[in-house]
Amino acid sequence: MRVTICFGGSIIAPGNPDVACIRDIVRAVRELKARNHEILIVVGGGELARVYINAARELEVPGVDQDQIGIAATKLNAQLLISALGDIAEPSPVTAFEKAVRAMLRDKVPVMGGTTPGQTTDAVAAMLAQASKSELLVFFTNVDGVYTADPKQDPKAKKIDQLTPEELAKLVGSAEFQPGMKTIMDPVAVKIIQRLNIKTLILGKHEIKRLPEILNGAKHTGTVITRVSK
Ligand code: UTP
Repeated sequence: MRVTICFGGSIIAPGNPDVACIRDIVRAVRELKARNHEILIVVGGGELARVYINAARELEVPGVDQDQIGIAATKLNAQLLISALGDIAEPSPVTAFEKAVRAMLRDKVPVMGGTTPGQTTDAVAAMLAQASKSELLVFFTNVDGVYTADPKQDPKAKKIDQLTPEELAKLVGSAEFQPGMKTIMDPVAVKIIQRLNIKTLILGKHEIKRLPEILNGAKHTGTVITRVSK
């Protein structure tokens, strides 16, 4: 299966880089390749992006430049994962979708960070899924699925097992983009998912090790975004 996977910066580098999590990713990606899956990866900026964006904001740097600083952080995390993946990965962070697809066709795993100001790596992942005609899009986040409300703020928030892209769009709303902003998913990504109608999983980091089984149809504890029944 051809799969685009987005590892949120908040799981790869929640503060310092999470070495155990990166090891789990390397093992899972090697296993997926061994099972002949075609894998494309996008990595977020995490705390590094936020700390640098906050510093830039204090320095009254314009929003577009704050975004470029965020993009630089995503690329550092991407390079760390690439180095850990070793020879199965394309050697540097890929910046263009066509190049990522070409690397995948050469049997390498492309790893992208951010690309363009005004969005997050969620949108990059949705665009990469579109460019590569992936069958599945997977987001690993520090919230292990989509909830009825922010589970960190509302103890009554419940995880949703399955929802349609339209229901996701309603939940996400249309908050105006701000560098470093936090939402369930970037509204740009939600729009692309709606248009592509691609099956999308939102999973917690404890499911990284189980990804090969999950692609084989094993149950998971996250959220499925699809228009058809599971
Ligand atoms: P992230 O993709 O890391 O944000 O981009 P996120 O998904 O909210 O957070 P994590 O990684 O899961 O913790 C960080 C910032 O980098 C800029 C934006 O300012 C974004 O908020 N960015 C990123 C861009 O401008 N364009 C991109 O394509 C990606």
